[in-house]
Amino acid sequence: MAEAVPTVFVVDFGAQYAQLIARRVRECHVFSEIVPCGISADEIARRAPAALILSGGPASVYAEGAPKLDPAVYGLGIPVLGLCYGMQLMAIDLGGGVPRTDVGEYGFAQLTVTDASCPLFEGLPLEQQVWMSHRDSVGTVPPGFAVTASTPTTPVAAMSDVERRLHATQFHPEVAHTPAGLDILKRFLYDVAGLSPTWTMVNIIDEAVGRIRAQVGEASVLCGLSGGVDSSVTAALLHRAIGDRLTCVFVDHGMLRLDEAEEVVHVFRDQFRVPLVHVQAQERYLGLLAGVTDPERKRHIIGEEFWKVFFEEATRLQGVAFLAQGTLYPDVIESGPGKAAKIKSHHNLIPFPAGVHFELVEPLRSLFKDEVRAVGAELGLPEHIVHRQPFPGPGLAVRIIGEVTQENLDTLRRADAIVREEIGEWDTEREVWQYFAVLPDIRSVGVMGDERTYGRPIIVRAVASADAMTADWARLPHDLLARMSNRIINEVEGINRVAYDITSKPPGTIEWE
Ligand code: XMP
Repeated sequence: MAEAVPTVFVVDFGAQYAQLIARRVRECHVFSEIVPCGISADEIARRAPAALILSGGPASVYAEGAPKLDPAVYGLGIPVLGLCYGMQLMAIDLGGGVPRTDVGEYGFAQLTVTDASCPLFEGLPLEQQVWMSHRDSVGTVPPGFAVTASTPTTPVAAMSDVERRLHATQFHPEVAHTPAGLDILKRFLYDVAGLSPTWTMVNIIDEAVGRIRAQVGEASVLCGLSGGVDSSVTAALLHRAIGDRLTCVFVDHGMLRLDEAEEVVHVFRDQFRVPLVHVQAQERYLGLLAGVTDPERKRHIIGEEFWKVFFEEATRLQGVAFLAQGTLYPDVIESGPGKAAKIKSHHNLIPFPAGVHFELVEPLRSLFKDEVRAVGAELGLPEHIVHRQPFPGPGLAVRIIGEVTQENLDTLRRADAIVREEIGEWDTEREVWQYFAVLPDIRSVGVMGDERTYGRPIIVRAVASADAMTADWARLPHDLLARMSNRIINEVEGINRVAYDITSKPPGTIEWE
């Protein structure tokens, strides 16, 4: 049976490229799914994807244990696009040759399209820049294939068997460094595979709504709200699917940023009119955190207490059988050498108390973060939720070095609001990934008016990043830094210094704990 939505399978050979390819395909409005390279031809035939894209891989095709693909795949009549390692594998499997030249090509290369009639390059410049990252390359193309493009170092930079709809490029069309890359993918998806760009926000929502309804029937669903993007979009989607058979539980641990708790309640209770249980657990958390300074211990207490409070409320609500969770696609797949596109098993270990169990509803589990934001916007969630910066589950507790007290929380919340307001007004294009204030546990002398002070500093942290794995400290203008410093010292009692963190990640982390 074919997939319900026309789907492109991205076969993962263990490079970091598979997720990027899958995202690019979706940018072309075609649904994609990452599958492990061990998948059999029978399984592919059964699931009948509309096309296959073979990803790059870190391995040489000659390396011991190099990942292979069931060669029967090429005979299924499904269009295939092999990229980099995927091209070399295709060449070898179909009777071509990949000599060991040991002449690598890394970085930009000038591509010359030698066969303008190749559907991959139709209407695109015959000379273009592409991104290469390989050592060996194809020497002779398999029977039935023609060379369609070359670079000065790589005579076979692309090859095609138009008849069998098998195409391959040695370069990476999925990376931004290949400017025409997205067009090449589109040519493959639309012209070679005959797909239409139907994976749009409206379809994504309709499909998700349909699946939720099919799963839960007439039952009621519970959703834990944190104010973050994932749980908010999950709740909004469920609301679209089942209306007020959705109940949201918002556990307010008192460690959110200024006005955040009120905003969450306002959006879901007043705008969406979802039955919302707002649990005021601030006092309870402060009691548990009193005297605790170890960061891991703080995280543990807050995490454990969250589920305790949540299930206290959940079990009070009668007749709810389902629990919604904002699991995303990258949480579901685990990509990488040796564990290509394995399904993660640990992502949904909710600590159900003894005797309590809910079936999980995960309407975002096939979506990437940018798609989740787009779905949220389409469903009418406000900008401040859809574009919310990453924020730790334990909230401001991780940004207070030392003990979490009401006073420390109030101080940090006020300073953080100033940082967010000032940088937010300046960074209208959202180029800074994340910015916030940190309250360290030290004091130093200062002078205000005629008086000597012995106050606390605030550390301002702002970083540029693409994925939080690495980050660079943001080069904020001096007058912006000066304005923040002045405002924090004037408006936040007890603060007599402001420092700006100029550490990148690595060696630093984004958060201070
Ligand atoms: P670090 O400090 O490790 O943070 O460089 C990387 C990114 O993760 C965010 N972060 C969290 N996000 N729950 C989350 O959802 C957490 O407990 C948590 N701790 C850190 C952090 O803000 C940064 O974006």
